[in-house]
Amino acid sequence: MSEIGLHYSEAGAGLPLVLIHGFPFDGSIWAAQEGGLRDVARVLVPDLPGFGQSPPLPGPAAATQIADYARALLAWADGLRIAAFAVAGHSMGGYIALALARLAPLRLAGLILVASRAGADSPEGVAKRRQAAADVAARGPVATVDAMLEKLLAPGPPDPAIYNRVRSTMLAQAPAGIIPALYAMAARPDSISLLATIQTPALLIAGAQDRTIPPTESQTMRDHLRNAAYVEIPGAGHLPMLEVPAAVNAALRPFVAGLLPPLPMPRGT
Ligand code: MLT
Repeated sequence: MSEIGLHYSEAGAGLPLVLIHGFPFDGSIWAAQEGGLRDVARVLVPDLPGFGQSPPLPGPAAATQIADYARALLAWADGLRIAAFAVAGHSMGGYIALALARLAPLRLAGLILVASRAGADSPEGVAKRRQAAADVAARGPVATVDAMLEKLLAPGPPDPAIYNRVRSTMLAQAPAGIIPALYAMAARPDSISLLATIQTPALLIAGAQDRTIPPTESQTMRDHLRNAAYVEIPGAGHLPMLEVPAAVNAALRPFVAGLLPPLPMPRGT
């Protein structure tokens, strides 16, 4: 795939830590981590292709693969001359982080999966994604808000500031980014067997009250990984980094600080 320029922000110095947002968001969901971890890492927060201020992937939406996002991130890292890096992926960002582990395992200095999972979509799930893509094509991003927002945050009256921020971030995303991502998620491979091959240290973070991807999915990944820690965040739903940012940063900080600096990479890897 040809290299496309990704919009990103960064803070801090040291081990590169790439924070990959989930669906249908942009890098802004990691603001508290970008600010809160800048003293232990060089925190880089890209907008995935088609989200935030990044241009969409080339090619037909219906043929998009999760690996296409991973390749775009690798090309972006190459452009920044970042050889090895730690990665944290939220939900769909976790699917992309697993694709990075498949495509470029030697480049990963650490793997963090937040409210994510390794399994593929069920046939019913695939059908729902296709319907969602049609709904977004017809109605725009409000279709994702109607389908997802109610279950994104922990049950109970939401904090209005967080609720409004999540809603406005979802509404800001373009169909040209949302629709390919739906097809890519629907087509993603099962990555359970990949987990046992991952050598890099891993951290799994789950929202205790996540109604979109329950904590059992993170527990399953922990059981298949060779070297994984698991942290469950009380009071959090599917967006722990926004709902309880201090607890997420407290989990990330010692893990990231304990990762080894990236080894020099041979040319051409
Ligand atoms: C996400 O937050 O990225 C999505 O909920 C993931 C999904 O729909 O599988």
